[in-house]
Amino acid sequence: MTTTTTHPTTTTHTATAPDGAVAATTAAGTAQPLLRPADFGDFQLPNRVVMAPTTRARAAGPGLVPTDLHAVHYGQRAGAGLIVAEGTWVSERAIGFVHVPGIYHEAQIAGWRQVTDVVHALGGRIVLQLWHTGAASHPAHLGGALPGGPSAVNPHERSFTATGFQDTVTPREMSRAEIATTVADFRTAAENARRAGFDGVEIGALGSFLIAQFLNPRLNLRTDAYGTDRAGRRRLLLEIIDAVAEPWDGRRVGVRLSPYWTSGDTFTADAETLAAYDELVAELNDRPVAYLHLRGPETAGAGGTPDFAAFARYRRRFDGPFIANLGFDRDSGNALVEEGGADAVSYARHFIANPDLVTRFALDRELAAGDPSTYYTGDARGYVDYPVSA
Ligand SMILES: Cc1cc2nc3c(=O)[nH]c(=O)nc-3n(C[C@H](O)[C@H](O)[C@H](O)COP(=O)(O)O)c2cc1C
Repeated sequence: MTTTTTHPTTTTHTATAPDGAVAATTAAGTAQPLLRPADFGDFQLPNRVVMAPTTRARAAGPGLVPTDLHAVHYGQRAGAGLIVAEGTWVSERAIGFVHVPGIYHEAQIAGWRQVTDVVHALGGRIVLQLWHTGAASHPAHLGGALPGGPSAVNPHERSFTATGFQDTVTPREMSRAEIATTVADFRTAAENARRAGFDGVEIGALGSFLIAQFLNPRLNLRTDAYGTDRAGRRRLLLEIIDAVAEPWDGRRVGVRLSPYWTSGDTFTADAETLAAYDELVAELNDRPVAYLHLRGPETAGAGGTPDFAAFARYRRRFDGPFIANLGFDRDSGNALVEEGGADAVSYARHFIANPDLVTRFALDRELAAGDPSTYYTGDARGYVDYPVSA
């Protein structure tokens, strides 16, 4: 496998504290807003430092089973207020990236059980992100079959296959029966996640993947109930939320959105698409959603600061717990929580390189830098060997 791949939702820079973050910057220990407990309804977080989902492409064999290494990796990070485990296939039809685990057969459930047992034994909480790539997949993942999407429009993405990146193709328009099967696959995956011991699931409705394709008016040209207008385009997500919530007692389903996502020639955030997300986020208030996990806009270059106003737009429309992501460090995360811009902040790259991220924040220890060349390589190196702070 190449060592220079980039996940479709990866960014390559870090952020520093925004102006006005002085109070949070100087806060020490548990006085830091990020280190206060948070009541997320059915999730009780001892701190507000969430581990963002990170694809690490370490699943074993053609069965795409999580291994002991996964248990070690997540166990090392059990200090997170909440772990959102990596995007995981809801079915074989969902596959669109190599060596990513699934949650659709018994060996996968058993593999994940080891992970959740370790995390729980160490006092942590862990939910599983459910993933379907839709038209962003490639025939190479699907036994030569065309991927299905909302309409027969090529998203012009690149899919990471066993032979490297390949350009996406024009997908098949999914039939109504296929949509119903997909919703059922998400439900079964959520039931399997519950059986595997997860505390809940997060619906991956972000990036260039299936659910975001349905939300996208440039990719969803359908004239039926799953397209036509904004309400139609969000119907798939809303049906998946309802289906995925069924196996759980209480609110155990988070939703991850990326309204600002820009990629290829079809994912371009503009006034129209942002307004559609405004409506969607407001509508989530009527659904059994445990939290909204919002990936913000890219920061302006290396060292750029997260745009707090971009999060405020959706924060004020959603009544439940709100997790902000992208480009945060300790100071900017504390500043956002302190001003009420989010209930928690999630960290991807910092958690990759700093398994004890919460302790490092508490003691204001320097953060280690990760090695992107091992993000998607298949062994222990760069996965379970980042040291804790001495
Ligand atoms: C190696 C890597 C793998 C990722 N995998 C996923 C994933 O499986 N699901 C997802 O929603 N986002 C994924 N992302 C995006 C991150 O969750 C996060 O949105 C992004 O890295 C920005 O957060 P950060 O600034 O804290 O790193 C991944 C990012 C990286 C670096």
